[in-house]
Amino acid sequence: MTAQPSPRLAALRHASQAMLDGRDETALRRQPHPELSPLLWHVGHVFFAENYWLAARIFGDRSITAPWRELYFPEQCAKQARSPRLPGPAAMREWTDEVAAANDHYWARAARHRHELLEHGYLHAFLCQHYAQHIETMRLAAAQLDLEESLGAATLDVAAGASCQRVRVPAQKVRLGTTAMDAYDNEKPAYEREIDVFDVATGPVSNAEWLGFMHDGGYDRHELWDDDGWRWRCIDQIDHPQHWRAVDGGWHIAWHDNRLPISEAPVHGIGWYEARAFARYAGARLPAEHEWEAAARSGRLDATGQVWEWCDTAFKPYPGFTPFPYEGYSKPWFDGHHFVARGASVHTEAEVKRPGFRNFYPPTHRHIFAGLRLAW
Ligand code: AVJ
Ligand code: FE
Repeated sequence: MTAQPSPRLAALRHASQAMLDGRDETALRRQPHPELSPLLWHVGHVFFAENYWLAARIFGDRSITAPWRELYFPEQCAKQARSPRLPGPAAMREWTDEVAAANDHYWARAARHRHELLEHGYLHAFLCQHYAQHIETMRLAAAQLDLEESLGAATLDVAAGASCQRVRVPAQKVRLGTTAMDAYDNEKPAYEREIDVFDVATGPVSNAEWLGFMHDGGYDRHELWDDDGWRWRCIDQIDHPQHWRAVDGGWHIAWHDNRLPISEAPVHGIGWYEARAFARYAGARLPAEHEWEAAARSGRLDATGQVWEWCDTAFKPYPGFTPFPYEGYSKPWFDGHHFVARGASVHTEAEVKRPGFRNFYPPTHRHIFAGLRLAW
């Protein structure tokens, strides 16, 4: 019997394997950034994870996961230790094809099997989201590799700061979070909360506006910065977005999306500390995540989906949070040192695009295609 995966799962598997095309083994094995794993690891990890949940957890077949658990469970192998243990690209393609075939067999069995994780298609949705999130991370890794090779660059040399439109969001009681079956544990349960009136920008801060901040000494003015942000900025010598390079008194910016001129495109390559400093400089603040969600759900935000938008909110559980389907997805990161980013970037797949989705990163991460939107 030849079992068929769902078309979407097949497409996500294919897109994951395709991340290996067109790059040599050295690049595929390298950590493109200290916070990122080699592209080869991500590909192995997503196929491993599908097999782990489906074959090992539901059907007790550990034959595929057993030899690989110490490499592909992220908590069992530090990022810097992954590279030398990875198979090469050809072996990876062969192995992932084998894992996919085994998984297809188990999906066919799953259709006739009863298990909590299989109800209402939960596991299929969960695994599609897992592929989708890693595909975005692989695109971030690819962007970092391309940055090392050459900047496919646009030049930004005038601070033609677009004037920022704002819209008022009235005080209201909003329903946040979700009861949707396929949402992540950290989006649940749905709950109600009062919000005060606030104003929010209709679009994210642009590259030109960011350049204005730089020209006004934004990176050098301690009073704009949180103390720990200032310390980080000094030690790491942060004085421009991560993918900008100074050339002849202007700036070269790695940019591959021609939908908007470079000056109007949303800034990214900035961490949460930088976003907070810019907001202070602009006499504004970052929206809290519940404000962001209320504004998004009522249709007041334009131009979402280009960059993740940093919120003024530490990543914490909603009241009544229950870890599901494992503790590791959200719970370890409720540590007060991760902050929420909302929306989506140009690299985000459909599975992850919803107003309640909560992304979360440390305040110093700058490789994640996150920018900001102002609030007042
Ligand atoms: C939610 C994007 C921060 O990449 O670390 C992937 C998603 N979790 N596999 C991450 C995730 C487990 C997670 N982020
Ligand atoms: Fe993962």
